[in-house]
Amino acid sequence: MPREGSAPRSVRLGTWPTALEPMPRLARALGLGEDDLWIKRDDLTGLGGGGNKVRKLEWTCGAALADGATVLVTTGAPQSNHARLTAAAAARLGLDVVLVLAGSPGSSRSGNLALDGLFGARVRWAGPADDQALGAIADEVAEELRQRGVVPAVIPFGGSSVLGARGYAECGRELLDQKPDLATVVVAVGSGGTMAGLVDALGSARVLGVHCGAIADPARKVSELASGLSGLPDAPQELRLRLDQVGDGYGALTEQTMAALTLAARTEGIVLDPIYTGRAMAGLIAAVKDGEIVPGQPTVFLHSGGMPGLFGHAATLETAEAALTAFDVDALADRPARTVG
Ligand SMILES: Cc1ncc(COP(=O)(O)O)c(C=O)c1O
Repeated sequence: MPREGSAPRSVRLGTWPTALEPMPRLARALGLGEDDLWIKRDDLTGLGGGGNKVRKLEWTCGAALADGATVLVTTGAPQSNHARLTAAAAARLGLDVVLVLAGSPGSSRSGNLALDGLFGARVRWAGPADDQALGAIADEVAEELRQRGVVPAVIPFGGSSVLGARGYAECGRELLDQKPDLATVVVAVGSGGTMAGLVDALGSARVLGVHCGAIADPARKVSELASGLSGLPDAPQELRLRLDQVGDGYGALTEQTMAALTLAARTEGIVLDPIYTGRAMAGLIAAVKDGEIVPGQPTVFLHSGGMPGLFGHAATLETAEAALTAFDVDALADRPARTVG
C-alpha cells in the first residue's frame, strides 16, 4: 500500500500529520513569550507506542517489502526505541523480526524490551558493542538467514540511512505548513537521520540538534545524510549542534536532563525520556540561557517519543518516584493563586 503522492517505496505505518501544540507555561517558565514555544507531537505517531522512528520505517520497510523481504533485522541498545518500533512495524506488516542488541540477557529490563517481547521479536544479544559492531553482527545474521533461503532486510542502526531520513524531510515540510514563521526546531540527535531530514527541508540555520552520545561523530553523520538527501555530496553543512548534554555518556542520566524532564512534566504535562528528548529539552533550556534562542522567535521542540525508555531506566524512575510529595494542607493553602489557561 504505497502512500499517495510520494515515492512508491513508502508504506503507511503512522498517523499524519502529527499535531503542533503551544507550550505557553513552559515558555513563561523559561522567560520566553507565550507564543514563542511549540511542540511537534512526533511522540504521537500511532504505531507501537509512537516516536520518530515510525516516519523512517515507512521508507525502510517500504523498500524491504519491495525487495521481497520476510524478516527485518536491525540493531540497537537494549532500550532502543528504534528496535521496538521496528518490531511493531514487522508485526503490522506480517514480517518476522530479529533485533541485534548490545549487552546480554538481564542487562536491562522492562520498558522497550518488554514491548519487543510483546511484538514477537527474536533477540540476538551482542555483548558490549558499538553501532558499527552491531551492524557487522546484523550482517552476519542476515547472511545466516539467506543461506537458509530466507530473504532478510537489514534496517540500519536508528533507521538512519538516506532513505530513512526522507521521513524527516517530510516532517520538515509538514512543520513548515503548520508554522511557516518557525525560527528554530530543536531535536535530539541519536543516529542522525532525524536532524538530517529536517536540515534538508528547513535548511541548517533553522535546526538545532542536541547530541545524545549514541554515535562517535554526529556532525559527520548528519552532514553525510543531509548531503545524500540533497543530492549535493560536497555541499558544506554549517550545522547547529550542541555537544554539551551528553554528560557521563549515552545511558547516564544528567542533572540537566532530570531538571528538563521535571519542568516539562510540571508545566505542560509532557513526558520526556532520559536519553533523547530529555537531553534535547535540556539543550533547548541551555540555548535560551546562553542567548541562542531568544524571545520573539518561534521555537519548535520536536518530541521524538521514547517514553517506554523511561520505564527501562532505573535512575530516572528512582528520582521521579522520590519526588512524590505527601499531602500537606498548609503547603497548598499558602500557595499563591495559579493562573488557568
Ligand atoms: C526517542 C528518540 N528521539 C530521538 C532519537 C534520535 O533520532 P536519530 O537517531 O534519527 O538521530 C531517537 C533515536 O535514536 C529516539 O529513540
